[in-house]
Amino acid sequence: MPASLTRAALETLDHADELAPFRDEFDLPADVIYLDGNSLGPLPKATPGRVAEVVAREWGQSLIRGWNTHGWMRLPLRIGEKLGRIIGAEPGSTLVADSTSVNLFKLLAAALEARPTRRMILTETGNFPTDLYMAQGLAALLRRGHEVRAVADPVAALNQDVAILMLTHVNYRSGAMHDMASVTRAAHAVGALTLWDLSHSAGAVPLRVAEDGADFAVGCGYKYLNGGPGAPAFLSVAPRLHADLRLPLTGWLGHAEPFAFAPDYRPAEGIGRATVGTPPVLSLAALEVGVDQMLRVPMDALRAKSQRLIDLFIALIEQECAEYEFRLLTPRDAAIRGSQVAFGHADGHAIMQALIARGVIGDFRSPDVMRFGLAPLYVRHTDVWDAVSVLCEVMRTGAWREASVAERRAVT
Ligand SMILES: Cc1ncc(COP(=O)(O)O)c(C=O)c1O
Repeated sequence: MPASLTRAALETLDHADELAPFRDEFDLPADVIYLDGNSLGPLPKATPGRVAEVVAREWGQSLIRGWNTHGWMRLPLRIGEKLGRIIGAEPGSTLVADSTSVNLFKLLAAALEARPTRRMILTETGNFPTDLYMAQGLAALLRRGHEVRAVADPVAALNQDVAILMLTHVNYRSGAMHDMASVTRAAHAVGALTLWDLSHSAGAVPLRVAEDGADFAVGCGYKYLNGGPGAPAFLSVAPRLHADLRLPLTGWLGHAEPFAFAPDYRPAEGIGRATVGTPPVLSLAALEVGVDQMLRVPMDALRAKSQRLIDLFIALIEQECAEYEFRLLTPRDAAIRGSQVAFGHADGHAIMQALIARGVIGDFRSPDVMRFGLAPLYVRHTDVWDAVSVLCEVMRTGAWREASVAERRAVT
């Protein structure tokens, strides 16, 4: 390890870390260094109790009465309101609902309705596949000649035909982060709307969607928000767009009066109209624990520690594993990246398998990307040291070669 960096020095940083107490709020296996919270956040210790309470007391005892007595119907708005604070949205603009993919579809369709003469959905090469696929599916369904265009520099490609600029704020592979304010300004200058996928941003970096002028936002609940596997997603719409917001999935719970059981659809006021069907109460209970925890986190401290952990990770890999040709794919400039770091390596899949077998859990994204999520709520400075030590050991001993013959699993 670099002479200036010792494990003892990192222990000192851990002792002084104001976020350290948050780690104790998670149920993490003792023999694991968890660097995959950008894919699935770990289990908050409070979650099993809360979910058990909702199951046994609310569902078990209240039965159908729970919709009223426990406010189940309001959960998507109630948790959405809290989530809105995490992403810096205006009150009343955020809802928890469906999956990120479905929310992308809903908001892209609304954007095309709001810009009826424009034909282009503009996005970025290397955006997350579901963002591209949902846009492509919508364009095919509408059959009105919409084009989904993915380019390397979407700001340079903005023009008067762009209805919506759809970007993932923090790239899922590289961790590179867009400047939401300036990109949104550029889109607005040509009359386009913006849709930000915050899946790798919410709970990972400070966000100000309202201040930055974003029109629409979506994101996952199961990553840095620690809402559990398949947790419901969120969506947010700037209030200035609510009155004319025309959504394609007109389910009964987005109706102004669902329990009037009227034959014709009439949208609810405000963001509630983005609700489609019955809220998943048990999943929402788990998500709320993660969201409540995130609301207690000092975001400036979170951001500073995230940047420090990644700087440290990069420095240690480059000094200790230099001969193994890991290619840094994440910006060195801490201001323009999220809370994950990626390295390219031709044997990346096998190396990651060898790491996982030794308790260092990151993940792999085709074709050659090793991803490490450094979530500051539970990753310690010494974890970075230990993870890089294991990586160096795997490379020095060639242990990864055994993993290279192993079959690829469905989820990498
Ligand atoms: C940027 C981004 N958007 C969307 C998704 C997934 O969305 P869904 O919850 O619909 O599976 C992911 C999943 O990793 C993602 O990284």
